[in-house]
Amino acid sequence: MRLAGKRALVTGGASGIGAATAKRFAAEGAAVAIADLNGDGAERHADAIRAQGGTAVGLAADVGDEDSVAAMTDRAWQALGGIDILVNNAAIPTIGTVETLAADEWNRVLDIDLSSIYRASRAIWPRFVEADGGTILNTASVAGVIGMAGQHGYSAAKAGVVMLTKCMALDGAAHGIRSNCVCPGFVETPMVNEYFDAQDDPAASRAAVNAAHPLGRMGQPAEIAGAFLYLASDEARWVTGTALVIDGGLTAGLPPG
Ligand SMILES: NC(=O)c1ccc[n+]([C@@H]2O[C@H](COP(=O)([O-])OP(=O)(O)OC[C@H]3O[C@@H](n4cnc5c(N)ncnc54)[C@H](O)[C@@H]3O)[C@@H](O)[C@H]2O)c1
Repeated sequence: MRLAGKRALVTGGASGIGAATAKRFAAEGAAVAIADLNGDGAERHADAIRAQGGTAVGLAADVGDEDSVAAMTDRAWQALGGIDILVNNAAIPTIGTVETLAADEWNRVLDIDLSSIYRASRAIWPRFVEADGGTILNTASVAGVIGMAGQHGYSAAKAGVVMLTKCMALDGAAHGIRSNCVCPGFVETPMVNEYFDAQDDPAASRAAVNAAHPLGRMGQPAEIAGAFLYLASDEARWVTGTALVIDGGLTAGLPPG
């Protein structure tokens, strides 16, 4: 059990990568609080973990709202008897360019995908300082490392996540706080399925995205959860400030030919 005795709060845990991460953490011995805008979904995933003999609680929370984030942190802390690992994973997709994105859409994607991490990390930071340590894990994206045509707001937010991760690592080190992020390529989740559905030819778009990954396919949520597990575990005790790309080779460079 690689997370025995650890307590983790996972945002956006009712679906996709967050749900897989909460499940994997619980299977490795962590007690988990699953927070999501979809409180019923969070509770369902917590139920499933409890049914397997794990410890989990589901919470309704909006990472776009400061009061809700404060309440989420308090409730998770009380339910688990503390928090050792915060996974800032909740985010929304937004398609659009500087030409097509309205100001409110731009502000919203920056708020939910980047400022939410400031908000939740700020809520937990003094507690981690007092506890002499803690781990912050953020879900960034390959969109934070290479530009994504047609996704100006989302990519800018994710690049911000990478840099906020590194800055928190620098200032957290003296307090035993490690901060890392994972940058997934395309992963089969409801978010990515929505993206395909919004394209003119969803099947062609899916095939093109699969082919863009040198390993020939999109990732699965469990493959990203494995990266979070490593970063959360003691095996990564000397790892901080890293942006771990897990992308089937998508960002490795140009393919042969
Ligand atoms: N799926 C991909 O291809 C992919 C690739 C790179 C990065 N990511 C990132 O992975 C993370 C998880 O995405 P996913 O693909 O699992 O998506 P998903 O849509 O399956 O899950 C996202 C979850 O976040 C929740 N959420 C959204 N807004 C929220 C809010 N304001 N407060 C609380 N919860 C909120 C949703 O209800 C949902 O349960 C995101 O940060 C996303 O940007 C996804």
